[in-house]
Amino acid sequence: MNYHIVTYGCQMNVHESEKIAGLLRGAGYESESTIEDADIIVFNTCCIRENAENHAFGNIGALKKMKRQKRGLLIAVGGCMAQEAGKAELLVKKFPFIDIVFGTHNVAELPSLIARKQREKKVVSLLEDRAETEDGAQPYRTSYPNAWVNITYGCNNFCTYCIVPYVRGREKSRSASIILEEVRALVAAGYKEITLLGQNVNSYRDGEIDFPALLDMVASVEGKFRVRFMTSHPKDFSASLVAVMKKHERICNLLHLPAQSGSSRILSLMNRRYTREEYLEKVALLKKEIPEAELTTDLIVAFPTETEEEFEETLSLVEEADFSSAFTFIYSPRKGTKAAEMEEQIAPEVAKERITRLIDRVNENTRRKSERYVGERIEILCEDYDRKKGLYLGREPLGRMGYFAADRDCIGEFVQIRVTRANGISLYGELV
Ligand code: SAH
Ligand code: SF4
Ligand code: F3S
Repeated sequence: MNYHIVTYGCQMNVHESEKIAGLLRGAGYESESTIEDADIIVFNTCCIRENAENHAFGNIGALKKMKRQKRGLLIAVGGCMAQEAGKAELLVKKFPFIDIVFGTHNVAELPSLIARKQREKKVVSLLEDRAETEDGAQPYRTSYPNAWVNITYGCNNFCTYCIVPYVRGREKSRSASIILEEVRALVAAGYKEITLLGQNVNSYRDGEIDFPALLDMVASVEGKFRVRFMTSHPKDFSASLVAVMKKHERICNLLHLPAQSGSSRILSLMNRRYTREEYLEKVALLKKEIPEAELTTDLIVAFPTETEEEFEETLSLVEEADFSSAFTFIYSPRKGTKAAEMEEQIAPEVAKERITRLIDRVNENTRRKSERYVGERIEILCEDYDRKKGLYLGREPLGRMGYFAADRDCIGEFVQIRVTRANGISLYGELV
């Protein structure tokens, strides 16, 4: 019996799919296969923007024929879209061939839902938000030498454009001792990079232990490995976090700090709870303490009421904060959020024109910053082999992908390369 998991969305979902894989293996499915050879296909969906949903809808719809031809094939849909108000009903109405729908709060139930499906025609099971953070689901990891570790679930921030708090529930922190136990086991098993995950890691709290304290503990585990974390909300980014980053060499000096906009008026409408000036103060604090540190970010254009001048403030933030790269998005109204109710939505032509200009500006900055690496020596954690390119690849501490040739399997090793060429966020070099 084979399984195939289709994952959309963020790192959180990628990690959740590892848990789904673990659960399926526990339920008797032996190996991951192509979609054609699978006995169960699980869609782990995202609903952050309309195109994420359309994508999933399209791909689920395309399975209609396969489902008819292959007896016993199970199709299960879970993740954020399944948890969205009214979506489960819409899914089964539109695609009657779906067997199982499950939400974000009952992933661990999947094996029992599969069992129930043997008796029932269709199984739809969504739960309300739960207080517990542990559901016993053991991830089946395929990301060696990198490992993701959740530290928080859910979000309490209610940024006015965002659906995450509605589909992932209230913010909950896992216990520090459980997190540390997991990190120790991963390092002992040979994992070389640990990424701590949460919608807003900076608001982590377990009794007296806040995020800087947790990060300090994780980085103090014995072994050779790197530590990364995401995502940091600027409002909670503090001097004590910078101090911990500075204290441990193994914590990568790359901060993903989503700004969303460069305009204080738009930031206030977004309920981000910081101004442009405050954001830049945090950037300055980081650079003062750790001059080599770099920042990446998320930016949204065409939020309701955004003027040309306000958009230009986002453009100028790219240089002022000196982002080494950025994820750029056109605002997408999400039903049930505050921003979707705002009257002055921006015309699609204007949004497209703005995002093109923003992407150009971001790429220009990325190129300029990457070019400085030519001639330099960098440390890469080799994580994969690119067959098409015939090159090994992995990331340097500040997040750039480095490609190089080697005559042996280097996956899982820290190697030094001398950079000979830069292309966008990618660096090419020779092993030294
Ligand atoms: N918790 C993280 C972000 C999670 S969502 C944080 O707060 O930083 C990832 C990114 O998607 C967000 O940073 C935002 O830039 C973008 N995003 C979220 N909702 C969106 C929407 N409705 N339209 C466009 N982009 C959106
Ligand atoms: Fe969404 Fe804001 Fe929470 Fe991030 S912090 S998940 S953008 S509500
Ligand atoms: Fe992530 Fe998408 Fe859900 S970005 S939290 S998978 S809505």
